[in-house]
Amino acid sequence: MTLNIAVLISGRGSNLQSIIDNVESGYIPNANVSVVISDNKDAYGLKRAMNHGINAVFIDPAAYQSKEDLDNALLDVLARSSTDVLLLAGFMRILGSDVINAYSNRIMNIHPALLPSFKGLHAQKQALDYGVKITGCTVHFVDEGMDSGPIILQKSVPVLDSDTEESLSERILAQEHIIFPEAVKLFAEGRLYVKGRRVHIL
Ligand code: GAR
Repeated sequence: MTLNIAVLISGRGSNLQSIIDNVESGYIPNANVSVVISDNKDAYGLKRAMNHGINAVFIDPAAYQSKEDLDNALLDVLARSSTDVLLLAGFMRILGSDVINAYSNRIMNIHPALLPSFKGLHAQKQALDYGVKITGCTVHFVDEGMDSGPIILQKSVPVLDSDTEESLSERILAQEHIIFPEAVKLFAEGRLYVKGRRVHIL
């Protein structure tokens, strides 16, 4: 059976691209990116999806009266695409509980820091400002909190004295492009087992 992957984006979509490439190469086995959804109509990731013949959908947050209405619109697109797993790849919004509950332990997010440090926006700048010597990236399951669900994989990245937000972000991004597909591969192979806060890799 094919695993139908839906990807939510807000912008550039380089993590989306790494997922598409790893599905196409077969590294992520028996899977298909069935839909890419953006909350930003100018997101370059929508073009990336179209370049690969993937259904690209813009959901306009301004068109909905409430967060619940927006979540229902999202649930509708996900259901129509027979979504098995939902990936947040640079998606800059918090999902509502209806979506979280509908896809419990089937939503993954990539975050550019070693959680639980530096949650939220501009995680790379937060790390530089704090002065940590090591930061990195995290793939985790999504729960109702912000960047708070059970951790699947993490990769560390040293902070150099010469680093700017751009240079550090670039080195972290290179690792994101490795661990996000790896986590999805493990999911596709049925090798992730969640027990409380801990994700065991079988
Ligand atoms: C990535 O660095 C991702 O980790 C980050 O946004 C960037 C998206 O880049 N996500 C967050 O900060 C979520 N809190 P991309 O659009 O090229 O994949």
